[in-house]
Amino acid sequence: MKVTVVGAGAVGASCAEYIAIKNFASEVVLLDIKEGYAEGKAMDLMQTASLNGFDTKITGVTNDYSKTANSDICVITSGIPRKPGMTREELIGINAGIVKSVSSSLIEHSPNTIIIVVSNPMDTMTYLVHQSTNLPKNRIIGMGGALDSARFKYRLAEALEAPISDVDGMVIGGHSDTGMVPLTSHATRNSIKVSEFLSEERLAQVAADTKVGGATLTKLLGTSAWYAPGAAVSGLVQAIACDQKKIYPCSTLLEGEYGLNDICIGVPVVLGRNGIEKIVDIPLSDAEKEHMKASAEGVRKTNGLLNVEA
Ligand code: 2OP
Repeated sequence: MKVTVVGAGAVGASCAEYIAIKNFASEVVLLDIKEGYAEGKAMDLMQTASLNGFDTKITGVTNDYSKTANSDICVITSGIPRKPGMTREELIGINAGIVKSVSSSLIEHSPNTIIIVVSNPMDTMTYLVHQSTNLPKNRIIGMGGALDSARFKYRLAEALEAPISDVDGMVIGGHSDTGMVPLTSHATRNSIKVSEFLSEERLAQVAADTKVGGATLTKLLGTSAWYAPGAAVSGLVQAIACDQKKIYPCSTLLEGEYGLNDICIGVPVVLGRNGIEKIVDIPLSDAEKEHMKASAEGVRKTNGLLNVEA
């Protein structure tokens, strides 16, 4: 199993690290445009192999896509991250051009690859990969929901004063501060609905804190987060590589599901060796349906900028 991660910045390097630590891939290629940067990160990570007990071989390359040839899975993290006060949508001008050229170079050398898009604004970048390549829809996956759900579970555990392993929950919708739809009605603590333990107000606070999860970290760190994004990507990569058939919320092209068409947005999917193997339709409350509709409008508005910028 060969995995390429494009972009050796904090998010890309963190993806490579978590993939390697889980020890299921034979090879990870880390690619960056900055001379020597990916080589340095790869060497540093390889020097953790004996300490962390993995055999995955990590190599770094400077913009040489021939070294990514025949990758089973390619992760695109390239582009600029947001700075404090910026929305993910503001990155579209620079990131659209980068994502378009990176995806085309990847596919040239790995025509059978599955692509995972992390660059922001992620739902629109995922849609752009659909528009600009001829990959089938099951092989284009946007990573946002897995991360947002991890942040949701963190906030739920905090509110419940429970261990995170006791908590389950999912965030669907767009990967943006206003677009996320935390499914509070489905969230559970050890199979009991969290509404049994938390007031409506406290649950609303959990949802609000989840939605600004990325912005909160950007403010604290001065740039966007990397540990949880990297761990979330490694979860998707493992589900595909090991054909786990796990359910994760991912951004995928909808063709009627959830009443939406011609849009990439986060919904629960089954991930296995063929990428997105199934879109799972779950019942939403009326409020969640409305929220999803508004979220889709927001994503469409950002998609509208593609014709201008890309
Ligand atoms: C985040 O939410 C990188 O969009 C990513 O942290």
